[in-house]
Amino acid sequence: MEQIKWRVHNPSGGKRVVVTKELPGERWLEFLTRAECRVEICTSANVLAADEIKAAIGTQCDGAIGQLTEVWGAEMFAALKAAGGKAYSNYAVGFNNVDVDAATRLGIPVGNTPGVLTETTAQMAVALTFAAARRTGEAERFLRAGRYQGWLPTLFLGELLWKKTLGIIGAGRIGQAYARMMVEGHKMNLVYYDLRPNKALENYVAAYAEFLRSQGEDPVTCRRAERLEDLLPAADCVSVHTALDETTHHLINAPRLALMKANAILVNTSRGPVIDEAALVDHCRQHPNFRAGLDVFEDEPELKPGLVELENVVIVPHVASATQWTRQGMASLAAANVAGILMGYPVWQKEDIRPFLEGKAPQAAPSILNAQALGIPAQGD
Ligand code: DGY
Repeated sequence: MEQIKWRVHNPSGGKRVVVTKELPGERWLEFLTRAECRVEICTSANVLAADEIKAAIGTQCDGAIGQLTEVWGAEMFAALKAAGGKAYSNYAVGFNNVDVDAATRLGIPVGNTPGVLTETTAQMAVALTFAAARRTGEAERFLRAGRYQGWLPTLFLGELLWKKTLGIIGAGRIGQAYARMMVEGHKMNLVYYDLRPNKALENYVAAYAEFLRSQGEDPVTCRRAERLEDLLPAADCVSVHTALDETTHHLINAPRLALMKANAILVNTSRGPVIDEAALVDHCRQHPNFRAGLDVFEDEPELKPGLVELENVVIVPHVASATQWTRQGMASLAAANVAGILMGYPVWQKEDIRPFLEGKAPQAAPSILNAQALGIPAQGD
């Protein structure tokens, strides 16, 4: 077995923080250095197994920054607690890999990294939408294979989504950003499914509709679907933006795929298990005009048998948040979460996390999921 490699930053720091992967940028290290932490960073590329992380935590560890590819369950938090751990942050906005309740029971604050992935992830959802609609993967493979013999009236005909119906599942930050890009950029009518009405999104679309009307154009519309079964048959393109938990596991399954239009587009930049991937493979096989754009997979990094062979599926390897700005921002937020808790700071309560990304950062932990349950005060309390 290959030996796991580590590097140490600020070796004289009095507190010890374990970081299970190298992170981009420098600012995140400044947060931890200022909090007097010795930072031990795993520089090996492989995903660490639970035992390897526990070994790294060892007998004295004040905090940890982990990855969405690792399971941070009760056992891991018990190890962290036993080593004197006081803080954990996921290097992700999603936290389906973290047992927040177990951490809360042990009194360990858990951070995540919201706000810096929003536009970046929405941008990838848009990229996948149009790549699927306009068959760019298929067309590129065709061209690279030397099969192009000249322009043809029927070569790679795709779908024009302009003024058609967009369905989004989950109207949180990222779903909303994606909806704005598609509604405003492509004049699509919006149907959204979310447990709660999103008045900000509805008002945004209404204001845009008013503007279009003032220009003598057809207005766009927005409605909330009470049930997924109302959204799926209506939409020409459906994009998934929900968190993964037991209520959203296989939310898109064979019966629900069967409700979608035969030439619809399904996009997923949230978490793989929200879609029953084997059912999707079957559906795409049976409906060649149905298209999917996927950034995430049910058994990452494995793909369900048959998926890679499908011409009507565009796939990228979980890179929706992969821009320098976002990944450095995620590092800053994760480090500021751990450093903030170790410094005894309150929790930042504004949605806007940009003050953490440049200049003098607020004396607060930017996003602690279980702050309320642990009675950590919010800034300004
Ligand atoms: C997240 O932060 O949850 C994303 O999936 C990372 O790309």
